[in-house]
Amino acid sequence: MTKVALVTGGTRGIGAAISVGLKNAGYTVAANYGGNDEAAQKFKADTGIAVFKWDVGDFAASEAGIKAVEAALGPVSVLVNNAGITRDAMLHKMTAEQWRQVVSVNLDSMFNMCRNVIDGMRERGHGRIINISSINGQKGQMGQTNYSAAKAGIIGFTKALAQETAKKGVTVNVICPGYIDTEMVQAVPPKVLEGIIATIPIGRLGKADEIAKMTVFLASEDAAFITGATMTVNGAQYIAG
Ligand code: CAA
Repeated sequence: MTKVALVTGGTRGIGAAISVGLKNAGYTVAANYGGNDEAAQKFKADTGIAVFKWDVGDFAASEAGIKAVEAALGPVSVLVNNAGITRDAMLHKMTAEQWRQVVSVNLDSMFNMCRNVIDGMRERGHGRIINISSINGQKGQMGQTNYSAAKAGIIGFTKALAQETAKKGVTVNVICPGYIDTEMVQAVPPKVLEGIIATIPIGRLGKADEIAKMTVFLASEDAAFITGATMTVNGAQYIAG
């Protein structure tokens, strides 16, 4: 039986590349998505990957969604917490709603998703959890107090959970992508984006597939001794110690 991998925000951007990368590596993949039905249906038609809709910021919806995935495909062996949104604004202009939405989708989702797979992984003595943070959780980013806080929170969450599950065969790691060529990054004002690209020593945006390849490696048996690690994939834009 092939292993089941669940990717949140798995039908667009980096998540879509991760879903396809895991499928090509032999996993049965479930791609969660939050709102864009049209993109999800197109993704399903193009890739043959099953899609499941729920809000990862909602605990009860995540519990029900994971139950639906497991009933359809089998127990989740690999969980990729990729779903993320931006609501950029300087703090002096940020609304409480912009703060709440970003923390809900990007950080509350870590608890909502992991809490609902962790018992099964511990019982089976095997699991892979891969969380997608960001360069902006490592270095901070003006206009993103909400996003930088949530993405930094993911790193702490990962380090704590990795210690809890190390003896149970469950590894927990975090990937910090730099600026990757996706719709999210293309939404940055063009003049600002031009300035950002100028600060990337490799001289280009990253590709979604470059994050997918790291994810597939962390999911593999070859990565069994890697846990609690922060994997930086950013073209040397920010070199974390
Ligand atoms: N880097 C450098 N300078 C920036 C900047 C950035 N990322 N964002 C804004 N600035 C600068 C602007 O160029 C501007 O400078 P000047 O006054 O000299 O022209 C100043 O800050 C104020 O910016 P705005 O006039 O745009 O102010 P605003 O209040 O209208 O908007 C903003 C502020 C919402 C932060 C907007 O500038 C913005 O969206 N910036 C992009 C922020 C960003 O980098 N987001 C990353 C999104 S991609 C992502 O998050 C994926 C990931 O994980 C890497």
